[in-house]
Amino acid sequence: MATGAQWVLTATGRSPTNIAVIKYWGKRDDALILPVNDSISVTLDPDHLSATTTVAASPAFPSDRMWLNGKEIALSGGRFQSCLREIRKRARDVEDEKRGIKIKKEDWEKLHVHIASYNNFPTAAGLASSAAGFACLVFTLGKLMNVNEDYGELSSIARQGSGSACRSTYGGFVKWCMGKNDDGSDSMAVQLVDESHWDDLVIIIAVVSSKQKETSSTSGMRDTVETSPLLQYRAQTVVPGRILKMEEAIKNRDFESFARLTCVDSNQFHAVCLDTSPPIFYMNDTSHRIISLVEKWNHSEGTPHVAYTFDAGPNAVLIARNRKTDTLLLQRLLYCFPPQENDLDSYMVGDKSILSGAGVQSIADIEALPPPPEMKTPNQKFKGDVSYFICSRPGAGPKVLTEESHTLIDSATGLAK
Ligand code: DP6
Repeated sequence: MATGAQWVLTATGRSPTNIAVIKYWGKRDDALILPVNDSISVTLDPDHLSATTTVAASPAFPSDRMWLNGKEIALSGGRFQSCLREIRKRARDVEDEKRGIKIKKEDWEKLHVHIASYNNFPTAAGLASSAAGFACLVFTLGKLMNVNEDYGELSSIARQGSGSACRSTYGGFVKWCMGKNDDGSDSMAVQLVDESHWDDLVIIIAVVSSKQKETSSTSGMRDTVETSPLLQYRAQTVVPGRILKMEEAIKNRDFESFARLTCVDSNQFHAVCLDTSPPIFYMNDTSHRIISLVEKWNHSEGTPHVAYTFDAGPNAVLIARNRKTDTLLLQRLLYCFPPQENDLDSYMVGDKSILSGAGVQSIADIEALPPPPEMKTPNQKFKGDVSYFICSRPGAGPKVLTEESHTLIDSATGLAK
């Protein structure tokens, strides 16, 4: 295999997270992670929400190991093993002449890997960390092992880690085509448009305070498939038409259609959760209040200004048409959900330029905000019901990080830094 002293070979990559605007909910094959319908998502700017992963291989490693946000975690899960197995199968020769490292294709079967991954957002916030994480794992392992497969095939490997991860293989707007084949070979993501196509959209995530232990997506959708009669109707009758309309809306940057489709699809996803036995409640009172705020405002304008969508948790993802609308949205959100602590910096995170554009620079600015004109009971404020807001926008797909400062594994010890 290699010559000389024991070496450690590393690769580091960064992958974004994504938010579905037409939801994936329900599998037709649990092991291969094959969905019951197509879905469409928008990739979020990796500067605000992404996973960074370093993978390392060395003949000195006696087993595969993984660290998440600095803590070692068990790698026994079948999903990790599936991704590792699929990438190992496609590994090719690697040579680093300078360091005297030569790995033959067949050596990869024997070489163990160390993986260190870090999310630049709180994992506990329930913000699709598994999507960014598995997409990054597959992308970075592919780089380490010199895999030649195109992004479509990589997405179908990431899918076997977590379904929604396949959509994090690309930037911009992405469609996961459910595919027809029993072996899942045609169930992969395609990019609809890149992040520059519709770059005036602004995305605000309200991280909603919640003490409730949520049902995981995996077990929740299993229960839905087993018990909800509405799911079949959704997957077979409703979603196919919505996918076509959503593709058109994205292509034409038709915000009105985009927003209407996004909201109704989020609501239908939560309706099938409610139709599950026992019912699953992902949204809470704060989520409902945010829906009501947006619905009232959109109604008063006569045309949608903002779209909302909610995944398997109470957090709201709000998509504003442009910066001007976003300013009005932020003012409404901050009026209704002022911060508990007097610290605006940690209450509004992400793209600070979006914030300064909204003219909110201090707590005093929030206190001085006028009530939204469409609000019937203007003194209703819900301090502390939102933990914080993240300002973001559509973003790019995975990329390799070459700077040493990004590497999460020490190349001398082979352990997480
Ligand atoms: C509500 O991809 O987390 O976010 O495939 O079981 O890992 P598994 O589930 P996961 O489910 C995501 C569900 C969703 C909708 C979506 O992202 O499309």
